[in-house]
Amino acid sequence: MESTLNWIRGLHRYFEYTGNNQAKTFMAFLEKSLYADNPVINTTNQKGMIEFIGTIRKFAPDQVFDIFHKYFRYGYDPIALQDGFSRGQVESKIWISEELKKINSHYSNIILLAGWYGQLRLYLDALGISYDNITTIDFDENAGKISDEIFNNNLIENWKMKSCTQDILDITQYESHCVVPLVKGNGETFNKNISADLIVNTSTEHMSEEWFYKIKTNSVIAIQSNNLFDIPEHINCVTSIDSMKKKFKFKEIFYEGEKDLWGYKRFMLIGKK
Ligand SMILES: C[S@@+](CC[C@H](N)C(=O)[O-])C[C@H]1O[C@@H](n2cnc3c(N)ncnc32)[C@H](O)[C@@H]1O
Repeated sequence: MESTLNWIRGLHRYFEYTGNNQAKTFMAFLEKSLYADNPVINTTNQKGMIEFIGTIRKFAPDQVFDIFHKYFRYGYDPIALQDGFSRGQVESKIWISEELKKINSHYSNIILLAGWYGQLRLYLDALGISYDNITTIDFDENAGKISDEIFNNNLIENWKMKSCTQDILDITQYESHCVVPLVKGNGETFNKNISADLIVNTSTEHMSEEWFYKIKTNSVIAIQSNNLFDIPEHINCVTSIDSMKKKFKFKEIFYEGEKDLWGYKRFMLIGKK
């Protein structure tokens, strides 16, 4: 129940941020219904969720309901999606988007490192941050597929947004650009040279900081970490913004801050190196 409430409240916050009041009202209704003797849905039941989301999106159209609907239809893991929209995740993506907007309202080439489902794109769009291209790099093949086919399918044409399945530690960097291997529809691999003016990594707790020191472009770099040390995949958490600054040595810092979330803290640095 607690984890179900977590993503329903996360979606509630997301719709508040994007201004979809009807969808927000549905989330409030769904939250209340979970306390009933016979809740209207079992949120981890695939068939039930397809029907339920199918109904909601008729009354409160929103691209996130379309994403949920397709995700459940394709049979992907419900828990992972719900984790992606947990309150802490939503709040953190709103936080980074709002700070990035203060720096620039347009970025030419954005790279999302360990970008998961590329969901940050939704939050940038909601604030009217424009971009020419987004490339999301993640070593989980499913994450890339879910980004291309479900979360960002509306941007796949001409690869306005495209995923790359790669360990970010293996991405080759030159003085002015990095080389990202992308896969065409026919399975052929194609190397794209990307001079990113914005590089985002909201998953720095998942890896050593080696990738940071390889980046050679003069990009804006935005990173997040947290103090959730007890999660096995979190091999590089931080205890404070100062310890984060010691790990990631920026030449110039535009923003630094920490946020109290629900039972943990998230830290953020935005700057240039
Ligand atoms: C589950 S998300 C965690 C959420 C993260 N804190 C955020 O807010 O975006 C972490 C993502 O990092 C990816 N990842 C971890 N290490 C990676 C690496 N070395 N290269 C590429 N992707 C990586 C995982 O596959 C996963 O999709």
